[in-house]
Amino acid sequence: MIAKRIIRRSDMISCLLCKDAPCSAACPKMEPGDILRHVWFDNEDIAALSVPQESPCSDCDAPCEKVCVRSGEVPVRKLMEKLEKEVIPMAEIDTPSEEERLKCDICGIPLENPFMLSSSVVASTYDMCARAFEAGWAGACFKTICSMDIREASPRFSAINGDNGTIAGFKNIEQLSDHSVDENMEIIRRLKKNYPTKFILASIMGQDENEWEELARLCEENGADAVELNFSCPNMMEEGLGSDIGQIPKLVERYTRAAKRGARIPVLAKLTPNVANMSPAAEAALRGGADGLAAINTIKSVIGVNPDTFVSSPDVNGRSAIGGYSGNAVKPIALRFISELGRNPVLQGMHISGMGGIETWRDALEFILMGAGSVQITTAVMQYGYRIIDDLKSGLNYYLTQRGIGSVKDIIGAGLELVSATTDVLERDTVLFPAFDYDKCVGCGRCAISCEDGGHQAIIFEERKPKLDGKKCVGCHLCLLVCPMEAISPAKKRIDRR
Ligand SMILES: Cc1cc2nc3c(=O)[nH]c(=O)nc-3n(C[C@H](O)[C@H](O)[C@H](O)COP(=O)(O)O)c2cc1C
Repeated sequence: MIAKRIIRRSDMISCLLCKDAPCSAACPKMEPGDILRHVWFDNEDIAALSVPQESPCSDCDAPCEKVCVRSGEVPVRKLMEKLEKEVIPMAEIDTPSEEERLKCDICGIPLENPFMLSSSVVASTYDMCARAFEAGWAGACFKTICSMDIREASPRFSAINGDNGTIAGFKNIEQLSDHSVDENMEIIRRLKKNYPTKFILASIMGQDENEWEELARLCEENGADAVELNFSCPNMMEEGLGSDIGQIPKLVERYTRAAKRGARIPVLAKLTPNVANMSPAAEAALRGGADGLAAINTIKSVIGVNPDTFVSSPDVNGRSAIGGYSGNAVKPIALRFISELGRNPVLQGMHISGMGGIETWRDALEFILMGAGSVQITTAVMQYGYRIIDDLKSGLNYYLTQRGIGSVKDIIGAGLELVSATTDVLERDTVLFPAFDYDKCVGCGRCAISCEDGGHQAIIFEERKPKLDGKKCVGCHLCLLVCPMEAISPAKKRIDRR
């Protein structure tokens, strides 16, 4: 069993995950900045195991907290002590010393680990890709290469923020690479020469069959390991490009076939989520000769309509446009599409490169369990930087080692049989009641409010304590989801209602 988190992001209160964290510079014994980052990215055991064993905070007057950019607002010392006293005793293994378990491949070509940058600004220059490779990323899907004249709008991003400036969902109206094809080919050549073990996936977009063929050919000639066909950008200025193609299976097949004429290296079709089902386009790509699939690209969206100006966001000189939504908010939608591709028997054997909202190793694991053989990331890198690769790798490696799983390849698609496309297969005779933990409950009554107005009036709230009315409770678990104290859990026993 993977232990429940002891420290939540909200316990870190004001930590801003600083660049060159002052707390780390001030601490004589450890790197609190890195350790707090492990906690943030769901890597609590690794965080705890990074705290030196001999109670390092016991005789310390916490210079880390004094130099904090939020001057004393982050309880660094308390968090380190919590990791040492409460988390370390539960850590089942030591931090694994090697990363063999993370090795996998895309269509037979080795990948050091499943983590790649996805095609976007994060993989758009030689220096950026080189820095990402040095940081530990296994490869990069290079920003979509095209022969069009790309001129971007300003501003071009917008977001729905969570606490502390975190980004829940991200909107962009960016198009493709603004370097020439020649410039991009030179970058790919140099990257492959200087980083021969890293996976270079070259994303391309043609305007007709000849261009798809020619761009694929050039990518192969210049050293790309594989080509990704961008049938999915929702931000193109002309019709008939990007996600317009991905919505029409006949075009997906035709352009995939054209790219395959140009290159013998593996070809992945990157599909759009702006469809009801992804299988028609995926099967068309297979008919056209694709070796793999990549999904999802961004979801068409409108956000942030300004109540004063009536312009949505980003506001480009008084106007905006529908644009692509990404980031953690889209993960459930992405997983739904990945599971659809993974379950489709026609597509068996095709590599699936999954993406959409991945921030932590757990997010990545979910994609792998739904059938992805590799994963790609943009928005989390835009938000937190290439450094997230540390926690992606160490967290997944720790999980695999802890569970005795020899290779990440062994669990690709392992969760697919347990998710059904329809709800008709689900058992409906028993009820799983919620159980209240009165030690954690502070008596806010939020569970009672939700049950009263959004449930089945099954919580009696008296003397600031919730009590369950078993006759009314249908076991929907809304109370459990809204409890701010995590004081409600599923009961141990199911009740048979037949
Ligand atoms: C700013 C930005 C630029 C992007 N540019 C491209 C692109 O050029 N080609 C492409 O195939 N996808 C592009 N994408 C989509 C990403 O590769 C990815 O499919 C999507 O953002 C979902 O992953 P994420 O939630 O990790 O960002 C872009 C995304 C963003 C946010």
